[in-house]
Amino acid sequence: MTKEFKTILVDYTSTPDLITQVRRELSDIAAVEIRFKSLPHPLKFREAVVELAKEFPKERVFLGEKEGVFAGVLFNINLSRPRRAVIEIANGCNLKCDFCWSHSPLLEKPPDPKWLKKTLDSKTIYTYLDELADYGTVRLVEFCAIGDPLYHPEIWDLIRYAKQKGFRLRLSTNGTLLLPQKWEENCQDPVDELFMNISAGDRNTYADIHNVSPKIFDQLMANLNFLNSTRKQKSQKFEMRWINIVTDKNLPNIGQIVQRAKESGANYLDFRYVWIHQNFQKNIGVSRAGLERNERDLDGVRTQLNEAGIPSNFESFYNAVKMGEA
Ligand SMILES: C[S@@+](CC[C@H](N)C(=O)[O-])C[C@H]1O[C@@H](n2cnc3c(N)ncnc32)[C@H](O)[C@@H]1O
Ligand code: SF4
Repeated sequence: MTKEFKTILVDYTSTPDLITQVRRELSDIAAVEIRFKSLPHPLKFREAVVELAKEFPKERVFLGEKEGVFAGVLFNINLSRPRRAVIEIANGCNLKCDFCWSHSPLLEKPPDPKWLKKTLDSKTIYTYLDELADYGTVRLVEFCAIGDPLYHPEIWDLIRYAKQKGFRLRLSTNGTLLLPQKWEENCQDPVDELFMNISAGDRNTYADIHNVSPKIFDQLMANLNFLNSTRKQKSQKFEMRWINIVTDKNLPNIGQIVQRAKESGANYLDFRYVWIHQNFQKNIGVSRAGLERNERDLDGVRTQLNEAGIPSNFESFYNAVKMGEA
């Protein structure tokens, strides 16, 4: 009998039925992957996982990526089969984004300057990469940071090593330090995904939200234009994703963001809410008043995105903000 891989959707209300169904089919399936349809009640979820683990060999019950994090955080259950590993390699950063968890000028307590200078030592990172390769399930390695990964002095060697190990490589960066000369010297096409926190579509908004000189925006745009034209000339395939953390300051700027993203060859526009923790002096997310002020322009962004032909999560982001979920 062919053993098939089965995905089980766990849902708050339907969990008991699913468990029964899985029990019935246990002998016919090779493995079960649990995914949420919607966020389940933690206890229901625990019940489902524990029941499945009883009935089914542990090594054959897997959780989807976000479900794995949920289970790990709540119950210290690790049944997940990681596909992606994120390695945070440096604490320092050249920007001070309003919304940043660690570098925002709006934090009650600024970080310790000594801590800001720290980087993860390269030897440890090479060991992680070796272990992840041996583990066998991880396909994508992401170099990220508490600050910016380009602050790591050996970033380019690390990128090359990760690629040699066969991983798909994602670099999450603010993009301002991706200097053309460094890029040319160091890589033929080693980065598969460039996830860049841009969050503004003009130099003044950029300066205001990232708390730097507007000249940094000019530098960033020059970098992006260089990357885009190199990618075309050399027929490279890396993806450039613009990440935009939205606050009242850049809400009126989304139209400009779309425009700039199109000019710079972005492949995806990712809009995200601000996650605030208790060290922030105030909530800087999108306010109801900000939303009302910009509603008409935001409605127009949909058309603009269609015309620009850039895939985006704008629709779901905007709906969630309107519903007050953000
Ligand atoms: C901490 S940054 C580190 C990498 C790099 N410096 C950058 O900005 O992309 C990683 C991601 O977290 C996002 N981020 C930072 N503070 C955030 C917040 N309060 N809410 C949501 N996302 C945030 C950034 O926009 C970025 O996409
Ligand atoms: S660029 Fe990234 S690490 Fe630097 S301040 Fe902004 S969000 Fe924080």
